[in-house]
Amino acid sequence: MTRFAQFTITALALVAPAFASCDYGTHLYPREHTVPVSTFGYNDLIGPLNWYSLNKTANELCATGQHQSPVVLDSSIATAHGDSISFTVDSYPFGAEFENLGSTVEVPVNGTLKAGGKDYKLAQFHFHTPSEHRIDSEYHPMEIHFVFSTPDKSTAVVSFLVDFGLPNLLLSSVFQNVNEIATPGETTLTGPLLFAALENHLKSNAIFTYSGSLTTPPCTEGVDWYISAQPLQIDTATYGKVKDVIKFNARYTQNKLGGVNLLQNIANELK
Ligand SMILES: *[C@@H]1O[C@H](CO)[C@@H](O)[C@H](O)[C@H]1NC(C)=O
Ligand SMILES: *[C@@H]1O[C@H](CO)[C@@H](O)[C@H](O)[C@H]1NC(C)=O
Ligand SMILES: [Zn+2]
Repeated sequence: MTRFAQFTITALALVAPAFASCDYGTHLYPREHTVPVSTFGYNDLIGPLNWYSLNKTANELCATGQHQSPVVLDSSIATAHGDSISFTVDSYPFGAEFENLGSTVEVPVNGTLKAGGKDYKLAQFHFHTPSEHRIDSEYHPMEIHFVFSTPDKSTAVVSFLVDFGLPNLLLSSVFQNVNEIATPGETTLTGPLLFAALENHLKSNAIFTYSGSLTTPPCTEGVDWYISAQPLQIDTATYGKVKDVIKFNARYTQNKLGGVNLLQNIANELK
């Protein structure tokens, strides 16, 4: 099932510095035939503290933006009921492609979101271990991002935090072959994907909503976040398989919305 995608990191760095970011596959960054491996990462000089330095033009907001994600989700963040937005994902009874982008593992799928008076199209969903957002400061073992865009390049993300607990049918099926994409650039197939239970979960619980950013370069702002306040569950055996592949891909918590960017703040302090 595994096939090795062809890629060269240097070629991608020249033509498409933003490829494989959180909004890969949206109208802004249309999908390519091969899996583009990210040029940014989560360790030392390619990690979040240094994303600005990777491209000071493209990634300026990573170091100066004041509405950056992730944030702590507390009483300062607005909430709404999940049924105030409409979130649907197409069924893939024979599975869907599953890609290792280096910075995350991702499943390209179609779907729709109606929220905030806009009609969005789904591009993909991908995973972070541990979670990027934290509810009342508490992190969770995993976070799932469904990334949507409109033709005029508005971006929205529907997000689910995931805690340890019972096996989740959808997640077990997504990760059925995750061990086959241990190397960045590899692709495999998921098991059957049916989203009715996930759509119901979103609809039946509160959601946090705020305007933030992509959590990966180029850290673009104006991204509308819709985060289920009720975490999903995953069993530890499945989680272990996923963590072996993703390892660690959570950006550090940013300043409070509208506050000084933490990197800008320390740059001022060091002057
Ligand atoms: C940095 O980003 C800008 C704007 O996206 C792009 O034009 C430029 O080629 C990038 N530079 C490098 C070195 O990747
Ligand atoms: C999404 O829908 C488009 C248009 O119908 C289709 O061409 C594409 O193959 C679909 N992609 C997936 C992953 O289902
Ligand atoms: Zn993400």
